[in-house]
Amino acid sequence: MATTAAASNSGNNSGYDYLMKLLLIGDSGVGKSCLLLRFSEDSFTPSFITTIGIDFKIRTIDLEDKRIKLQIWDTAGQERFRTITTAYYRGAMGILLVYDVTDERSFNNIHNWIRNIEQHANEGVDRILIGNKCDEEGKKVVTTEQGQKLADEYGLKFLETSAKSNINVDEAFFTLARDIKKRLIDSNADNSTQPPKDSSQAKINIDSQSDGYLAGRCC
Ligand code: GTP
Ligand code: MG
Repeated sequence: MATTAAASNSGNNSGYDYLMKLLLIGDSGVGKSCLLLRFSEDSFTPSFITTIGIDFKIRTIDLEDKRIKLQIWDTAGQERFRTITTAYYRGAMGILLVYDVTDERSFNNIHNWIRNIEQHANEGVDRILIGNKCDEEGKKVVTTEQGQKLADEYGLKFLETSAKSNINVDEAFFTLARDIKKRLIDSNADNSTQPPKDSSQAKINIDSQSDGYLAGRCC
């Protein structure tokens, strides 16, 4: 299956050690696609082209001595795509919950997005709360303190970002990837009494979360 093959290219220059699947969720217009575009291609567009259904992009990063291929799924925030987008929760190892700091409604809706995660994602999935558009200082209606309080309520990490001005975008994705690495890779290594002959054990663990997630869709 594509997912199995995709997890083991270690040692190859164009390869990677681990594949991580991330998911962006939040109301329509909060800037999910722009965050992903900034992270994957370092660009930004001010025009709003709403996502139809689901899309994904790839970026490979280095975390300590490991190459991590991030496969990042960008969901449509519009209600009419909810059936298709929730089908993608299950394979996600990490989820970025995004609201717009200039749009209080998108912030209040975070409760609903968290409920969706509880219903559809794997238990223990890593999550981070993102308040996007922090460049819009004059229009900001959700304060940093409110964002932090909500994050504390749910035990989430929290960052304010700007896809437009490239503030904290890398930090957001790297923080989530680091948490996933800790949970699925490092803890696996710590728990083993003997070092594995190779790192396939960890790969199996991390990859086992993706069952049914990518079938027929892998890049
Ligand atoms: P859906 O695909 O409908 O769910 O929306 P989305 O969350 O993907 O929003 P998208 O990334 O398409 O951005 C919506 C609008 O917000 C666009 O006009 C972007 O240019 C703008 N935008 C996104 N990020 C930022 C940001 O950091 N700052 C500012 N000022 N505008 C932003
Ligand atoms: Mg979008």
